[in-house]
Amino acid sequence: MMTDMTDERASFTAMTEGTPEDYQIISKSFGAYSKELPDRVLEHLNILSGDFGGFPVDRLEHSLQCATRAHRDGRDEEYVVMALLHDIGDTLGSYNHADIAAAILQPFLSEQNYWIVKNHGIFQGYYFFHHMGLDRNMRDQFADNPHFDACAEFCEKYDQTAFDPEYESEPLSFFEPMVRRVMAKPKNSIYRRK
Ligand SMILES: [Fe+2]
Ligand SMILES: [Fe+2]
Repeated sequence: MMTDMTDERASFTAMTEGTPEDYQIISKSFGAYSKELPDRVLEHLNILSGDFGGFPVDRLEHSLQCATRAHRDGRDEEYVVMALLHDIGDTLGSYNHADIAAAILQPFLSEQNYWIVKNHGIFQGYYFFHHMGLDRNMRDQFADNPHFDACAEFCEKYDQTAFDPEYESEPLSFFEPMVRRVMAKPKNSIYRRK
């Protein structure tokens, strides 16, 4: 992976001494580094390979299957990428995995797709929380939310169905160009000039 493509360094030792020239150097470096975000994300998604967590398929296959089902159902590219990456937080977010995926994807998603990925953990619970002594209707706290149905549909059609070892999912390479296109243009970021 390419990183740190320039030898140029800012001259300050504390940010109070920073100059516009320093930030030209930093911006140039940021631009190059942020372009490699899809590579880092795809590499991280691959960490889910071999991680079964007791499920019939590993977490990478679950992700591919979820995205494949969404794609074959005619969902647009942004939705498919959201489906592909919805569980990418499983490695670092054992207790809040949906928040991790949501944070990574927020710059690139519509408000509704962001809401889906952020809350899919609670909505997915409808399919198993009752087996663990939890309330499967935890999602009802969002009954009045305009995105309730969209999130329920994501879990019903693509997430809770994506555990079939016999299903023929597309490989990660199939989704790679989609991830690159969706991540090429952030819609929301505090670093984006209006
Ligand atoms: Fe999940
Ligand atoms: Fe999932």
